[in-house]
Amino acid sequence: MTTQTNSHFMASDVPSQQGRRVLITGANSGIGYEAALELARQGAEVILPARSVDKAEGAIARIRREVPGAKLTAGVLDLASLASVREFARTIGERFPGQSLDLLINNAGVMAVPQRELTVDGYERQFATNYLGPFLLTALLFPQMRQRRGSRIVTVSSGVSNQGKIEFDNLQGERSYKPMFGAYSQSKLADLIFQLELQRRLTAVGSPVLSTGGHPGYAITNLQASGPAGQSPLGFRIISAILKPFASQDAAHGALPTLYAATAQSVEPGGYYGPNGFQELKGYPVAAKIAPAAKDLSLAKRLWAETERLTGVTFSL
Ligand SMILES: NC(=O)c1ccc[n+]([C@@H]2O[C@H](COP(=O)([O-])OP(=O)(O)OC[C@H]3O[C@@H](n4cnc5c(N)ncnc54)[C@H](OP(=O)(O)O)[C@@H]3O)[C@@H](O)[C@H]2O)c1
Repeated sequence: MTTQTNSHFMASDVPSQQGRRVLITGANSGIGYEAALELARQGAEVILPARSVDKAEGAIARIRREVPGAKLTAGVLDLASLASVREFARTIGERFPGQSLDLLINNAGVMAVPQRELTVDGYERQFATNYLGPFLLTALLFPQMRQRRGSRIVTVSSGVSNQGKIEFDNLQGERSYKPMFGAYSQSKLADLIFQLELQRRLTAVGSPVLSTGGHPGYAITNLQASGPAGQSPLGFRIISAILKPFASQDAAHGALPTLYAATAQSVEPGGYYGPNGFQELKGYPVAAKIAPAAKDLSLAKRLWAETERLTGVTFSL
């Protein structure tokens, strides 16, 4: 699905976003914050929900210091709670009725939660936060983008989706729980499958909405600390420490694939972008490797149906 990209796309290449309304999750930190900042800099109105209003307001204050007069709206959203996602989507529908959204960026995530944790809905925390919540949010907000020409849905996955496996008998880590190369990689593979399947469904109904996505490579953010807290598998920690000095990048560079997928004119429908450097760990956005499992059409259909069941939503396009 992906072909040409600009191998030196930078934040300054983000086209004018004047008149566009963006909703980005997880924008109080890391690559989400950097993406929100650049979109605001180019004139977008940005809705940035966080897990608390203080976190959202804190990010707004930081962006306003860089972009005085930016149009920014706080919100409260816990993607690990289906009720919170529903409540947040309801408030957005009330506050911005009609065809009101140009861009939805599903960025928020957690990585390698050391012990298996269940959410209020009884789902494994990483699968719920990284995948089920964003799926539900997208389904609930889609009516506000359906006829909006030029609108996009961007889903942030990860390079470890290549190591992911969708285990329908272990979606919640109930049979066995591996924090990184089990639950996390499964949730990020699910994100990529969702991005690609969503585009197929949009194409099938002739929708003007695009589904694109990306991964940031290895970007130094709070993710490494908030999830594993030094408890990720020893092998992963050793590899990360070895790679960090020469194959990691800052959050601003990690945001480039997201910004590319969200704004570049040259994106392909369903396009998936990541850094162009060694092992897609750092660099400028180009078409990224798509895991074979993410191209499995029957797997995608099955996962979609199971996700609708788990979230209690029918995703109407
Ligand atoms: N950094 C990397 O190298 C890397 C590599 C591959 C993929 N990614 C992906 O990039 C995305 C952004 O991560 P990051 O590196 O920027 O990490 P980060 O700095 O930790 O940011 C993650 C964001 O997600 C939010 N979040 C976590 N749980 C949430 C929940 N239940 N509800 C709502 N928001 C929640 C966090 O909010 P709090 O501040 O409240 O925790 C934070 O704003 C994630 O999807 C991650 O999987 C990152």
